[in-house]
Amino acid sequence: MLDHPQPEETKPDRDARPRGHRLDIDGVRVRYGQTVAVRDVTLSVEPGEMVALLGPSGCGKTTLLRTVAGFIRAEAGRVLVDGAAIDRLPPGRRGVGIVFQSYALFPHMSAAENVAYGLEARRLPKAVVVRKVEAALAAVRMEGFAERRPRALSGGQQQRVALARALAIEPSILLLDEPFAALDRALRLDLQLEIKRIQRRFGVTAVLVTHDQDEAMSMSDRMAVMNAGRVEQVAPPAEVYDRPATAFVAGFVGTTNRLPGRIEARDGAGYRIRLDAGATVAVESARGFDTGARVVVCARPEQLALTEAAEGFPARLRQSLPLGPALIHDIECGALELKLHAARHGAPPAPGPVRIGLLPGATPALFPEGETT
Ligand SMILES: Nc1ncnc2c1ncn2[C@@H]1O[C@H](COP(=O)(O)OP(=O)(O)OP(=O)(O)O)[C@@H](O)[C@H]1O
Ligand SMILES: [Mg+2]
Repeated sequence: MLDHPQPEETKPDRDARPRGHRLDIDGVRVRYGQTVAVRDVTLSVEPGEMVALLGPSGCGKTTLLRTVAGFIRAEAGRVLVDGAAIDRLPPGRRGVGIVFQSYALFPHMSAAENVAYGLEARRLPKAVVVRKVEAALAAVRMEGFAERRPRALSGGQQQRVALARALAIEPSILLLDEPFAALDRALRLDLQLEIKRIQRRFGVTAVLVTHDQDEAMSMSDRMAVMNAGRVEQVAPPAEVYDRPATAFVAGFVGTTNRLPGRIEARDGAGYRIRLDAGATVAVESARGFDTGARVVVCARPEQLALTEAAEGFPARLRQSLPLGPALIHDIECGALELKLHAARHGAPPAPGPVRIGLLPGATPALFPEGETT
């Protein structure tokens, strides 16, 4: 796909053509001795789609990626590209390009030699290798650095070369394991834009590992949120934020205020809940709860508000901090610490006693208490 390096503007037709390959991870389980690092993960990535794999350190992201790439053997499950199982193929024959968590360029080789490595392993004619290396370096805007050794390149440049190396083999699937982790903010944004541009231009199917939720949200078509070896939710970023599937997802993606309480009664499409903090709220939920069940209402900072109304529960405003056009209220309510997001107009309210209520129309998430981590 990198055979004909031309300015993007000159080939609009190519952009319009559907390309890319489908990746199916089907019930994959990976174990290191006693540790089960990946627990029966099933995840499909559509042709040309970018899925971000998001989760805390140690949840199994790298392990899952390396299993797809063929460096780790799964104990159970299958990996398929365009419907064909690739589990028995060695890494070099899977058509999978991977950019590792650390740069992992060969230090004694020039940028061009690094990019050529995977191509030479395929015993391609020298002229073809040269042409593909040039194209791959051009795609990441590193054509002027072909002869440099990695140590003479900045971190961002090294990651571009690593990306070129992964792209040079014209992979069906591109795997990116925290490619920006070691970069400062400015370089990070540059490379994020670069990768997005290349991924769209070539219609590459990609999985991007990150533990940065903003990065996952801005880069991906869908996010897969992992926790302790499992994928807990796969959905477009906005849906993960608005309708977290589990208490873990609600807490891990975005900020959430956990308000414990008890189910009082069914109420339309949800429940009436008596909060321990001392108010009754109505929350929509498709899940089944018994009357009296202990639950936790997970409300986003923008779903709660200071209120004059008697329905609110009492709390204490510690301070209010401006955040761009908004105001963050830092609130304490017994043992609970709450964060509220409000529009900024006029003078901020004075610290001291306040009442807090759910904003009308807000749809916080509701989970059984035991599920909350
Ligand atoms: N080679 C190994 N031998 C034994 N255990 C391992 C090995 N590699 C990883 N693990 C364990 O498997 C689990 C998953 O590790 P993995 O590297 O996949 O996590 P991760 O989500 O990529 O984390 P991070 O965000 O820190 O990179 C962890 O508990 C880790 O300690
Ligand atoms: Mg990792």
